[in-house]
Amino acid sequence: MTPHNSARKGEIASTVIMSGDPLRAKYIAETYLEHPVCFNEVRGMLGFTGFYRGERLSVMGHGMGMPSIAIYVTELMTEYDVKNIIRIGSCGGFAPLKLKDVVIAMSASTDSAMFEPDFKGIHYAPTANFELLRTAVEKAEELGISPHVGPVFCSDVFYQTSPDAHNILAAHGVLGAEMESAALYTLAARYGCRALAMMTVSDLLSGNTSVGKCTPEERQSSFSDMMKIALETAVCFAE
Ligand code: HPA
Repeated sequence: MTPHNSARKGEIASTVIMSGDPLRAKYIAETYLEHPVCFNEVRGMLGFTGFYRGERLSVMGHGMGMPSIAIYVTELMTEYDVKNIIRIGSCGGFAPLKLKDVVIAMSASTDSAMFEPDFKGIHYAPTANFELLRTAVEKAEELGISPHVGPVFCSDVFYQTSPDAHNILAAHGVLGAEMESAALYTLAARYGCRALAMMTVSDLLSGNTSVGKCTPEERQSSFSDMMKIALETAVCFAE
């Protein structure tokens, strides 16, 4: 047990799908997993272990932002022997992306200073695990989904006040903005684990302005596509 997770060792599978919203994790467990068992309710950060295509998988919430995901991921990797984490979430997309598109984050630039003391002035480039990334792209294509694969911007700030941040990143090929992948990738590298983040575009950003949003129904259907990619990828890495 940890301060944030009441699971006992062995109750969490070595491959975990994570979403920001713990109720999404519950939905995935109840909709897609066989025999899901809840392993955590501390702070409402629900986690479940069950089976998909006969393979043991877990799903868990991670909250919003890098400090939150960092707590859960660190504990999963260091206390519960988790080896593979796939985050599924949403992002603000930069043109030419469209609402509901799926983004697979190859790398994550960040405005966060949370790892600065560790890297001492070096601008480390948080990067996805190649095996997970390649498998996710293959599984997406098998499912008839064409994801955008490339860099994302992992921000500490949801309500950006400066339009320049998004404009300069978009001008360098960054696909969209989210808030967790840089911490996930950095910690996975640190603890010798695999990690991948994929997102659906829930809003379109031009500078710091939202110029379009998914309806709740669109959010749900595009989320289902991404969930299938994540589950089909995860079973390839289940132990
Ligand atoms: N910014 C950061 N994270 C997000 C956004 C956004 O516009 N949309 C969904 N997650």
